[in-house]
Amino acid sequence: THQWRGIIEEYRDRLPVTETTPVVTLREGGTPLVPAQVLSERTGCEVHLKVEGANPTGSFKDRGMTMAITRAKEEGAQAVICASTGNTSASAAAYAVRAGMVCAVLVPQGKIALGKMGQALVYGSKILQVDGNFDDCLNLARSLSENYPVALVNSVNPYRIEGQKTASFEIVDALGDAPDIHVLPVGNAGNITAYWKGYREYAADGMSSRSPRMWGFQASGSAPIVRGEVVKDPSTIATAIRIGNPASWQQALAARDESGGFIDEVTDREILRAYRLLASQEGVFVEPASAASVAGLLKAAEAGKVDPGQRIVCTVTGNGLKDPDWAVAGAPQPVTVPVDAVAAAERLGLA
Ligand code: F0G
Repeated sequence: THQWRGIIEEYRDRLPVTETTPVVTLREGGTPLVPAQVLSERTGCEVHLKVEGANPTGSFKDRGMTMAITRAKEEGAQAVICASTGNTSASAAAYAVRAGMVCAVLVPQGKIALGKMGQALVYGSKILQVDGNFDDCLNLARSLSENYPVALVNSVNPYRIEGQKTASFEIVDALGDAPDIHVLPVGNAGNITAYWKGYREYAADGMSSRSPRMWGFQASGSAPIVRGEVVKDPSTIATAIRIGNPASWQQALAARDESGGFIDEVTDREILRAYRLLASQEGVFVEPASAASVAGLLKAAEAGKVDPGQRIVCTVTGNGLKDPDWAVAGAPQPVTVPVDAVAAAERLGLA
């Protein structure tokens, strides 16, 4: 039987590798494209979820990281560095282990989810909590990589984008063509850049008949692209996308404009509503930032911007276990029962 080999082996001819490139992989990619029944009913469309939380470290970052660390290894790097809101650092730390490299991580102090901190720690990376936000961390990481022998693996590294574009290939391969609309959360804007690149490349090579309109959603408190200006002190409960000055800002605008799409914002309340809907109605548990794509789709549908009958893919970028606090918060406490079937049945409403 065939096991998925990871994105580099599966899409080797579309990626910057040669026969001698030392591939560093955890067999990322090949993630589920799940039909979303409730979202389809609500929008009158055919909605699918690209469940990126199914990647080895629980987020889409693994697609980019297998490429970035593979090329860093090929170029002889012994150490890598990244700034992160948590997922990039978890991924970089894991792939650095596979490559036998040192991994340094810069995170905004107190603003990354517990699961992600746990990952960076258990994979053995060198973590610095920076007294600043993600944008400060990225500036610091860039400066360290320019002045010291350490390779930068943020999405400003072009190999990251190359790896991440493979999600578009998988979607077209699964559906037989590109969807009408593709919806994504937007933080540093690397992923929307990567998906657009993937869709364009596949269309140019005749693998699909068209490219989708790209719809991106930022959190209202961290929406520099929507506002058209840097947000100095970004805020949102979706810590993964708490970013005030996205590195791929211009590329995100290009994806939006070339595809005839748009970039809008969703409030934390809308994000949490979509977060709960995904888990309780679709059976897909994602982290809050990931729910921004679905929150955006619902917002657009309620505003009458979604024509029925279209095929829509929403990427849900990270696993819900990364940030379980939001699953527990506001939920009723489970009741305790004695070891007694009658009492348990009563509590469950069975008796
Ligand atoms: N969703 C999740 C779960 C993320 O972790 C990120 C980015 C995004 C969406 C946005 O993707 O930045 O390419 O627009 N996380 C980065 C990190 C910033 O450090 O893990 P983007």
